[in-house]
Amino acid sequence: MSQTSPYKEAYERERQARLLAEKLLDEKTRRLYENCATLEQTLKTLEDTQGQLIQAEKLVSLGQLAAGVAHEINNPVGFSLSNLSTLTDYVQSLLSLDALVLDNLPALADHPLSKHYQQLRQEQDIDFIRGDISPLLAETTDGLRRVSDIVANLRRVSHSGELEKEQQDIHQLIEESIKVVWNELKYCLEVKRDFARLPKVTCHGSEIHQVLINMFLNAAHACEGGGRLLIKTSLTQIKHRAYIAIDICDNGKGMSKATSKKIFDPFFTTKAVGKGTGLGLSIAFAIIEKHQGKITVNSDEGKGTTFTIYLPVEPPNANTPGTASTPTATKG
Ligand SMILES: Nc1ncnc2c1ncn2[C@@H]1O[C@H](COP(=O)(O)OP(=O)(O)OP(=O)(O)O)[C@@H](O)[C@H]1O
Ligand SMILES: [Mg+2]
Repeated sequence: MSQTSPYKEAYERERQARLLAEKLLDEKTRRLYENCATLEQTLKTLEDTQGQLIQAEKLVSLGQLAAGVAHEINNPVGFSLSNLSTLTDYVQSLLSLDALVLDNLPALADHPLSKHYQQLRQEQDIDFIRGDISPLLAETTDGLRRVSDIVANLRRVSHSGELEKEQQDIHQLIEESIKVVWNELKYCLEVKRDFARLPKVTCHGSEIHQVLINMFLNAAHACEGGGRLLIKTSLTQIKHRAYIAIDICDNGKGMSKATSKKIFDPFFTTKAVGKGTGLGLSIAFAIIEKHQGKITVNSDEGKGTTFTIYLPVEPPNANTPGTASTPTATKG
């Protein structure tokens, strides 16, 4: 009859207890690790949402500010243009009066007023004024029309009521967005267009403006020493659904693979502190996703970058964001 020694029994008990403790520890460590991962994910989602909220709020207040300023400018520009048109008519009347007197001066040669009139004309350099006045008025009218155009654009781009989806002409949205940032583009970019015939697209015009404006500014910043921006549009079919594609292609500094992986992250920026929020692309991504479209990027460091925005032509179904029918992306 074999008898286990009490030492061996104690040892076995202790071993079992240790194994159990180790198993428990393993289990706890695994749970802790999982909790950590969930926490990290939640934190990231929170940061994303926070970033998008900040940007959305910033854009709303900027939009309201711009709409207010545009509205204030609109009235004085309106009456200045109207007054200028009346003034042009008045000046024409005065000019024809002067022409009539000039035509009849030989007949009035002996009249004392004739000498006086000619002297006054000479003193006031009326011949020069006659030549200069029409182009001066035309230029001023042209300048005011441009201000009026810019204001109309600003009002359209920043109009908060535009949050209703509407049938939009994408080319018009592109042109309006270019006009808004033209001051930033004109010194560094040669802008080329290659537009296809496109149907209208149901989208939030002001949101698409936001996306385009950020892309154009990014292109300008990537081409600081001068470069080319090509905006190409086309119609494409993906999984039986019609999309319009907008290629925004610059030949600027491009990005490394590591950078291009992070560009849609909120707050990611390679710009100097205070220069960029790093929210432009993350908000653009969210807007396009909301429209059930997609943004893809292809970049070659030192050669340039092409962003492609896909937007479905048919009104997106509000309940199914980012569905399987969205185009497949190449990210590189
Ligand atoms: N066309 C481009 N060429 C090269 N790099 C780009 C281009 N577009 C975006 N990037 C990179 O992606 C980063 C993020 O862009 P995003 O628009 O989100 O923010 P940002 O431009 O830095 O800041 P903000 O939009 O507030 O001015 C940029 O800092 C830049 O490094
Ligand atoms: Mg940007």
